[in-house]
Amino acid sequence: MFKTDLLAGRTILITGGGTGLGRAMALRLAGLGAKLFVAGRREGPLTETCQTIRKAGGTAASATCDVRDFGAVEKMIEAAEQAVGRVDTLVNNAAGNFIARTEKLSPNAFRAVTGIVLDGTFHCTLALGRKWIAAAQPGNILNIVTSYAASGSGSGFVVPSACAKAGVLALTRSLAVEWARHRIRVNAIAPGPFPTEGAWSRLMPSAEYEKRAKDSHPMKRFGRQEELADLAAFLLSEQAGYINGECVVIDGGLWLKGAGEFNDLADLPDAAWEMLEQARKRSQ
Ligand code: HXC
Ligand code: NAP
Repeated sequence: MFKTDLLAGRTILITGGGTGLGRAMALRLAGLGAKLFVAGRREGPLTETCQTIRKAGGTAASATCDVRDFGAVEKMIEAAEQAVGRVDTLVNNAAGNFIARTEKLSPNAFRAVTGIVLDGTFHCTLALGRKWIAAAQPGNILNIVTSYAASGSGSGFVVPSACAKAGVLALTRSLAVEWARHRIRVNAIAPGPFPTEGAWSRLMPSAEYEKRAKDSHPMKRFGRQEELADLAAFLLSEQAGYINGECVVIDGGLWLKGAGEFNDLADLPDAAWEMLEQARKRSQ
């Protein structure tokens, strides 16, 4: 789909780049010629991702960092510059989420999620954005939100995440305009369900629930990590140079299925449709 040097000369920082979708993006973007820097709280997954990139001939380095702490984010960016040079691209992918009845949440539980998703995204964006503006150099930001942010519906049982991701989407659209004059593009990807250890362990309550989720999906399948990584590669590339402030949903049509009043008719068997059609013809 892409030339293998699509992102040559680029230096990309991915938060949460040691696991799941962040790792998948790191491997794909490195394979397209970018230098990668991945950050997260745990060293093990970050080291593994970097080793995998290097084994494939790419350049990668990492640092541990809790994105909720602005000072730690500034230090992490300094470490990135030392290791891989000036960062020109930021993927705000780190997140926290879990299912819970909202009335059972403590304020600290709410804060744990909004701190990672909204504050963390703002911290990385602010720290790098300031540098780019001061140096009069262009930049590129991609924020990973969710389909329930893009639809505007939010979602019950993941209220801290719904609130935080809505904020990240507002940040995306606001800064796309404010920072366009500094040649900084800001876009978002809104994924539907993509199986990852991090998401599935916290959001899929049972195998039965997972089967039901898959069976009721319009495409009868979940997303593949490569599909999301390819979308990220395109949005970050120069080929997407005029796309700014956009949020691309990648969910196989899932949120639209819930929105269309008659979409549940997809479950009606052909035999029932034929009976309805026969009855209509008889009554004409
Ligand atoms: C209720 C919970 C809880 C749960 C934690 N808490 N888990 N409350 N239900 N399942 C509460 C704790 O009791 C505590 O409150 C507060 O939250 C902070 O908990 P800690 O464990 O101290 O927090 P911390 O170590 O900072 O961990 C943050 C975390 C954790 C968000 C709670 O899950 C995490 O590290 N997640 C990172 C990875 C992740 O979540 N990946 C999934 C992304 S998927 P008290 O009051 O007791 O102190 C995603 C996709 C969504 O976002 C869309 C899918 C289709
Ligand atoms: P994941 O593997 O759990 O990814 C979350 C990453 O964020 C982890 O690498 C984690 O590493 C890092 N992280 C969490 N808290 C952090 C903190 N305080 N500071 C720094 N890093 C932190 O889950 P995923 O499914 O790949 O999710 C990736 C992104 O996709 C998230 O933005 C998520 O909301 C979004 N998304 C996923 C799905 C899905 O179905 N998978 C759907 C919609 C949206 P550490 O724990 O080591 O810090």
